[in-house]
Amino acid sequence: MSPSTTMEAVRFHSTGDSSVLQLENNVPIPQIADNEVLIKVEYAGVNFVDTYQRSGLYPIKLPAVAGREGAGTIVEVGREVPLSFHLELGDRVAVFAQGTLAQYVAASAESILKLPSSVSTRVGAAVMLQGLTAWTIVRDAHDVQKGQVILVQAAAGGTGGLIVQMCKHLGATVIGTVSTAQKAEVAKQHGCDHVIIYKERDVLTEVLRLTDGKGCHAVLSGIGQSTFATDLASTRRKGTLVSYGNSSGPVVSFKILELSKKNIKLVRPTLANYIQEREEFVERTKELLDLLSRNIVSVPIEKEYMIDQVGHAQDELTGQKTTGKLVVKIAS
Ligand SMILES: NC(=O)c1ccc[n+]([C@@H]2O[C@H](COP(=O)([O-])OP(=O)(O)OC[C@H]3O[C@@H](n4cnc5c(N)ncnc54)[C@H](OP(=O)(O)O)[C@@H]3O)[C@@H](O)[C@H]2O)c1
Repeated sequence: MSPSTTMEAVRFHSTGDSSVLQLENNVPIPQIADNEVLIKVEYAGVNFVDTYQRSGLYPIKLPAVAGREGAGTIVEVGREVPLSFHLELGDRVAVFAQGTLAQYVAASAESILKLPSSVSTRVGAAVMLQGLTAWTIVRDAHDVQKGQVILVQAAAGGTGGLIVQMCKHLGATVIGTVSTAQKAEVAKQHGCDHVIIYKERDVLTEVLRLTDGKGCHAVLSGIGQSTFATDLASTRRKGTLVSYGNSSGPVVSFKILELSKKNIKLVRPTLANYIQEREEFVERTKELLDLLSRNIVSVPIEKEYMIDQVGHAQDELTGQKTTGKLVVKIAS
């Protein structure tokens, strides 16, 4: 491992807007526990969860190093990491852990994904959180079946774009929503059969028109509050609404009796609860790598930022200025 004891990292000491993020160069390199590995980070992903932690929506102990996903090489392996995990110094790995916007991150060996030669470190960092989220949404939250009609909100976004590709792979017809004509082109490239530009057309009217008035078998939405009523109305009788995020703010008031009008299943998942057990993590990551290796799913990395631009990257993400995935280069 590095002879230095400190590192560069993006930290925040209080919650607020992106100005609370500070690039510091004297942050202690994490000491690993016996069941952890230390990773020298090359790339980290930018995600909404970073902005929720920073704003205080998702409480976290402060000061905190930002970032929830990244990839790089192993530089230290804890004494109790099982040999059966086959984790060795120099292995290229991706990780879903707190504090990846830093030169080093410590992570439980259980949440480490060894990257095959077919997946670059950059893509590895990009796919860990949104990729696994998208895959668990279409397998665990709602098991997408051939012939189903699925509504995907923010179909040009990072998670939404992956969900579209996965739904198509599973044989569904996909209706995607986006804000602009430019994003509509991106959503079509992901495989959407129909794209609704919601600033030009009413989403519910279009969904009912495209589904003979029935609505969708499942609505997969990370938008939260602003689309929740439309999400519910677009779900057909006995269908499933998966509300997996808060891009526009969290859904705060909802009457459970609303579900009984169409016997709708409402799911509010978070990735961590689908991959908590080692077997779950291994199964879903293996499947995800397979989708990537066979080019069934591709990760559209739209933009790469430097470590001193993390606040700007977060503002672009929350400001609806982006499509696809955003990554931060930490080191090469
Ligand atoms: N549950 C989990 O474990 C989990 C894991 C990962 C991500 N997520 C959630 O997934 C959602 C998408 O995350 P992402 O990183 O992939 O982002 P993203 O979809 O790339 O970006 C968000 C998109 O949402 C749309 N949007 C609509 N209203 C918005 C508003 N008021 N503010 C901001 N965006 C708005 C925008 O697309 P248009 O311009 O086309 O409207 C925007 O580009 C987030 O809510 C995130 O929390 C959840």
